[in-house]
Amino acid sequence: MPEFKYRQAATLPVNPPPIVSIGLGGIVQDAHYPAYKSAGFKVVGGFDINRERAAKMRGDFGIPRICESLAEAVASAPGHAVFDVAVPGGAIVDILNALPQGRAVLVQKPMGEDLADAQRILKICRERNLIAAMNFQLRYAPFIIAARDMINQGLIGEIEDMEARVQVSTPWHLWPFVFALPRAEILYHSIHYVDLVRSFCGTPLGVYAKTMGHPSAPELRGGSRSMIILDYGENPRVNVMTNHNHIYGETKQESFIKFEGSKGAIQIRAGLNMNYPEGAPDRFEYILLDAGPAATWQTLEIRGSWFPEAFIGTMSSLMRYVSGEIPVLPNSVEDAIHTMATVEAAYESSKRGGTPIPAV
Ligand SMILES: NC(=O)c1ccc[n+]([C@@H]2O[C@H](COP(=O)([O-])OP(=O)(O)OC[C@H]3O[C@@H](n4cnc5c(N)ncnc54)[C@H](O)[C@@H]3O)[C@@H](O)[C@H]2O)c1
Repeated sequence: MPEFKYRQAATLPVNPPPIVSIGLGGIVQDAHYPAYKSAGFKVVGGFDINRERAAKMRGDFGIPRICESLAEAVASAPGHAVFDVAVPGGAIVDILNALPQGRAVLVQKPMGEDLADAQRILKICRERNLIAAMNFQLRYAPFIIAARDMINQGLIGEIEDMEARVQVSTPWHLWPFVFALPRAEILYHSIHYVDLVRSFCGTPLGVYAKTMGHPSAPELRGGSRSMIILDYGENPRVNVMTNHNHIYGETKQESFIKFEGSKGAIQIRAGLNMNYPEGAPDRFEYILLDAGPAATWQTLEIRGSWFPEAFIGTMSSLMRYVSGEIPVLPNSVEDAIHTMATVEAAYESSKRGGTPIPAV
């Protein structure tokens, strides 16, 4: 029998406001719009600097109004619309500067190309009184909502160990803009796990990290393999290990997020990374030590996945905050700046290098 006893879905807003999209690229097609469709959110307008792309998206998703300029998209947006910005990190600042004071906006991660960019973004949001959230949606993947529900219920006890491990072959060509960037792997991929870890364990005390490219892909200057240790002192032990250059077939590919606690453990296979963007099946397994010697790993059936369901959560929480249904905006830019600061520390650590081996 399928077991649906843990919470798995984000709470939807009572009256979702309309959405106006800025940037209509791959992630909007693969995740934003399928999520909004299933949640019943209405997109009323869109703008992309690439007109052909915008026309294709209008055809595919029936967007009622495609705008010729950012100014037109802003001017034609209903007063209560939420802006949904999904552009490369370097384009965010100019777009936020064009939004009217006090409006609600959800911005695709990352929050700029580095911490300095993130601080500029935060400053603009503060100056313009924007109700601004970053789209760190992994927090809302159904398997994470379920894990959080179990952890909040105390079922696995205190978190003592958290790990994200990814060993896959990633099609970086899907993001041509990434090739020109000095920062790629941590800023565009591992950042999801860094943000996720923060949402469970808080901001770490420090970071030890090494990020590097791969001999087979020198054109990806910003790295495709990372080892990140998030330092929480004596407990918990947390690390994020990624290798996007595992070209040896599916058998040994891995993509999991694991929580070990004092009373149990949860291990989630995030299949999306394994055949991106179609994805392989997810798997949610857990063990509760309360069962004593009879404790065994169980499988929890999960409805939905990272793509697209997680994208319902980030948009829903912004809409619910705007309407006063929740008192705190979970993915606010004020919180996301700490994810960016942690990522910055990882790059600093990587640049600094390891402790030299003492001469003997
Ligand atoms: N899971 C995730 O959270 C996830 C996954 C993939 C991509 N992303 C993020 O989404 C963003 C976009 O990624 P993508 O995969 O859609 O890339 P993409 O290249 O497919 O699309 C980006 C789109 O933005 C448009 N654009 C660029 N500058 C613009 C501007 N100033 N105004 C309007 N449109 C503009 C481009 O023409 C393009 O259509 C990136 O920041 C990426 O990090 C997030």
